[in-house]
This record gives sequence, structure tokens and C-alpha cells, in this order.
Amino acid sequence: MTTDPATDPAAELDLDAARAAIAAATTADELDELRRRFLGKKGLVARAKESIKTLAPDQRPAVGRAVSTYSAAVEEALGARAAGLGPAEVEGPSLDLTLGGHGRRRGHSHLVTQCRRDLEDVFVALGYRVAEGPEVESDWYNFEALNFPRGHPARAMQDTLYVDLGEPEQVLLRTHTSPVQIRVMESQPPPIYCVMPGRTYRNETPSPRNSPVFHQIEGLAVDRGLTFGDLAGTIEAFTSAYFGQRVRSRLLPSFFPFTEPSAEFALSCVFCDGSGCRVCSHTGWIELGGCGMVDPNVFRSVGIDPEEYSGFAFGFGLERMPMLRYGVEPIKTFFDNDLRFLIRY
Ligand code: PHE
Repeated sequence: MTTDPATDPAAELDLDAARAAIAAATTADELDELRRRFLGKKGLVARAKESIKTLAPDQRPAVGRAVSTYSAAVEEALGARAAGLGPAEVEGPSLDLTLGGHGRRRGHSHLVTQCRRDLEDVFVALGYRVAEGPEVESDWYNFEALNFPRGHPARAMQDTLYVDLGEPEQVLLRTHTSPVQIRVMESQPPPIYCVMPGRTYRNETPSPRNSPVFHQIEGLAVDRGLTFGDLAGTIEAFTSAYFGQRVRSRLLPSFFPFTEPSAEFALSCVFCDGSGCRVCSHTGWIELGGCGMVDPNVFRSVGIDPEEYSGFAFGFGLERMPMLRYGVEPIKTFFDNDLRFLIRY
């Protein structure tokens, strides 16, 4: 550049001199002072920028670039020197403020989801498919098609939460996952091997083992020649796959409108191995869910010929499994979202 040094604002900016001054600084205060001198509001760079305005327009870009380069280089030199001074000079007397690490934990699935997936895996390995249905159901799917006629006393076993939509008492929060059986049978012909997990609702007072919101998993098999023996074997297979070979299962007579015959199935107590303890009320058995052979009336409601096909179904509360496996209680623990619980499992 051929500009007169007196009028060239960049000429005052001697980078070597600046670097030397910065390198000679020995305290944080001295560095602050230098930062003000070079880069401060009234510092060299600010003044140079100010006087660019007085230059001829064609000279401005080149001088502007030179000022920017200088400013960046000074900034870098200041930063490097500050790092070189180390904590004692920068902060005065040193304090060790090291805290224990704050490692970030990775999230994971909720225990109910883990259990659901584990069980799905067991059933998929047995050749089942997984199906889902809506949580808000009609009276037809939740009751009528499952052979609960209107006014049938069995409806009272399932305290229902109705949704204020359409005709009174026609739309409800499903009280079990059994309506998905109907949806699956409507949507495909036999053979059917399906599990249906999901959230269910009942108008129930919370207690250690009951919650108005809970989860169930339902199983349905429809094929030619299925017998009660197949049902019993399937229950034995998935309970031992989930709890281990030592656990045995048993069936006791029961009643459900949509299965005939019906049974309750129980597991040998996982805590005392069947010898009797407080958890199993000294019976050696823990009741898990309901099951039975699909009632011919249910087949008729979905257009499957009960003379040609037979089937079995079972259903149980999903929370029961981890409650037994890990001793989690009360059931509301699953829904409180207390981080201590969520992190632990
Ligand atoms: N749906 C029944 C209940 O919630 C359980 C069940 C499922 C029973 C399938 C028999 C067959 O109590």
C-alpha cells in the first residue's frame, strides 16, 4: 500500500509488537489491560475502524481486511496466553472445585414395556403374531360379541368406565384386551395364533394390586382340532419361558362368558417354590389370569364355523409378571413415574 502512514489507520497496527506485549504478560490483570488496549471500545482496532471512514472509497476494503486480520490475530494471541497462564495466575488463589462426574444416563423402556416385549418375544417364538386394538371400544366389541348379553351379571365383574359419546353406555374404555380377539377374527380367517397386549381400564378403587389403569396381554389360537391340552401346554410354555423352568402352572375351573370351559391359571409361587409363604397366602400358588376354549357363540358372532374350528384364549394382567419377578408393589408404582423406580428397572 502506498498510503501515507499518517492517514493509514492500519499502519499503527503492529502485530509483532502486540504479540510481544502479550507474550510478556504474566498475570490475568495484565492480559485484561492489553485486551482493552488492543480490542477495547477505545482501543487500537476500534480507532483504526473509525478512521477507515476517512479513506478514499477504493482504499477502504484493503485496509478493512488488514484491520480484521490484525484483530483476529491479537484475539488468538490473548487466548493462547491466557491458557498458558494456568489457573493460579488467572484466578488468583486456586480452589479445587472438581465434583464427581455428571455422567448422563441413557434412558430405557419402562418395566411394563420391557415385560410386554419379553412376552411378545416368547409368543413370536411359538409362532404367534402381535395385534393391537383401540382403547376406546364399543359395547359390541367389549361385551356383546364376547357373549356378554345386555344385563348379564358377568358384566358386573368388569366395572366399566363409559365415555360420554353417542348413545348412553355404548362407548367405553375397554375393560380387557378380549375385544381385540373379535377384531382379529373379523379381519382374517383361521388359522389364527395371535397375542394382543395393551392398556385396559376399570372403575376400580386403587389397592395394592389393583389400579384403574393397567395392562393386559391376551392370547388367541383358532385352528382345526385345538384342545384344552394345547391351552394347558401353551400356558406352561410361556410361564416357564418368562419365570424359568422351575415354575409350574395349574388350571382351576372358572367362568367367563366367552370361553367354555373356562379356567383360572396360577403359577407355583416364585418366592417359596410352592411350599407356601406370605405372598401366596400359604397356598403355594399365585393366580395369574383367565383362559378357556373359545365359546361357540363367539365364533358365531364373527362368522367362524364352530363345527369346523376350535380355539383357546387366555388373558392376564401384564403388571403381575414384573410384580412377581421383582417384588414390585403396590401396582401404582408402575404409573407414578418416580425416577428412582424408573432408573432402577
Ligand atoms: N378377559 C378376561 C379378564 O379380563 C381374561 C380372559 C381372557 C379370560 C381370555 C379367558 C380368556 O378377566
